[in-house]
Amino acid sequence: MTKNKNNQAIWSTRIKKNTSLLFQKVGSSIEIDKRLYKEDIVGSIAHVEMLFKQKIISFKIKNKIVFGLNKIKSEISNNKFEFNNKYEDIHINIEKRLFQIIGEEAGFVHTARSRNDQIITDFKIWIKTNTKEIDILLDTIIKNILKLAEKNIHTIMPGFTHLKNAQAVSFAHYLMAYVEMFKRDKNRFNNNLKSLNENPLGVAALSGTSFNIDRNYTTKKLGFEKPTNNSIDTVSDRDFVLDFLYSVSVCSMHISRISEELIIWNSDAFKLINLSDKIVTGSSIMPQKKNPDLLEYLRGKSGITYGNLFSMLTILKGLPLSYFKDLQDDKEIIFKSNDTLINCLKIFDEVLKNFKPNKKKMLELASSGYITATDLADYFVKNLSMSFRTAYKRTAAIVNLAEKRNKTLDQLTIEELKKIEPKLTKDVLKVFDLNNSVDSKKSYGGTSFDNIKKMIMKYKKLK
Ligand code: ARG
Repeated sequence: MTKNKNNQAIWSTRIKKNTSLLFQKVGSSIEIDKRLYKEDIVGSIAHVEMLFKQKIISFKIKNKIVFGLNKIKSEISNNKFEFNNKYEDIHINIEKRLFQIIGEEAGFVHTARSRNDQIITDFKIWIKTNTKEIDILLDTIIKNILKLAEKNIHTIMPGFTHLKNAQAVSFAHYLMAYVEMFKRDKNRFNNNLKSLNENPLGVAALSGTSFNIDRNYTTKKLGFEKPTNNSIDTVSDRDFVLDFLYSVSVCSMHISRISEELIIWNSDAFKLINLSDKIVTGSSIMPQKKNPDLLEYLRGKSGITYGNLFSMLTILKGLPLSYFKDLQDDKEIIFKSNDTLINCLKIFDEVLKNFKPNKKKMLELASSGYITATDLADYFVKNLSMSFRTAYKRTAAIVNLAEKRNKTLDQLTIEELKKIEPKLTKDVLKVFDLNNSVDSKKSYGGTSFDNIKKMIMKYKKLK
């Protein structure tokens, strides 16, 4: 880059002294918002094209500015651009360089706009692009969960409530629960597009502009759906930032929950899954160890994303309208949340390919804890015309008996069962079969094998 002759602050006519070095250091956001350079340039090009169309600037000036901006874009992409802290942010860094490249006519680029509308335009475009990236990663994860589920329709495991054996379920059904969560995440991110598709460009500093601009034109050029309605709200609004941060938080919470479950299942107490060596680490002192560090990393990261959401909520609390420097931190917060989530999604996809259910152990654990007790109660209701509450009590008495005799429910003889309920016949014994138990839950959304197969097929077709 040629030596910068135009190195005065934009406001140097008005503000005579150089900003103190300390303030320069904290006031500058270039190290963070330089990430928005493409969006900034695209926005500026649409802006000057509109200014030309509206006869606010000449064809020649428009072309010169577009040429300069494109040159700057390739300089930045090729690491040939020298960012300067003194120029605060991406907007001023680019404008300053434009002066160097095309001369004084660069001064026309900022007609009828402000950095206040410029930054939100850049930011909304950036969030939209990244929403797509997240959406694609979520699709990959869903696809890989479906694959794993398909292989495990008949893998039986205990379903838990309070981490106590509750009822037997298919491992595929459990996995499909996470498909639902990740699908909701996709919807959540996509629902945010409604406000992200409102174009802020043209509201200028806070009150609009006296130039005869065409906001519908930039709206179309930049892929928005409509212009925002109120200039003051537009420059003050960061709801779209909160929406994104919230969506990231919820998605990372889902990853955190499944990670925690996998950690528990991988523990020596449960041993329900085996993690491949690719996703465990050893200990510096205990030679036998294989620790699920990667899952712990995923579990922990939701703490970071929640923190970011709360940082932004706190910055906005009580902030009067319209623009204040406080808002400048929104970029750092979103970039951190976005990068954290993208990382977690990629890692989680690795996890999915690197663990196996321990089917034998799953079945063993599902065979304990009187897990078919509810099936027995249901049997009483269906076959002996009892109310559910009576059936519940009768079953509880049978569980007590089994516990006393140190037996599982299926180890009780028909004679023992008849002691509690004389009307019982041998037919009842089928309810203690775990396959029957799982397959009997045929109500829509339940864990029956057929339900799961249909659901997997449905989701596979959707893609
Ligand atoms: N870099 C600034 C930000 O991100 C752009 C807006 C500056 N506007 C202003 N009035 N100082 O918030």
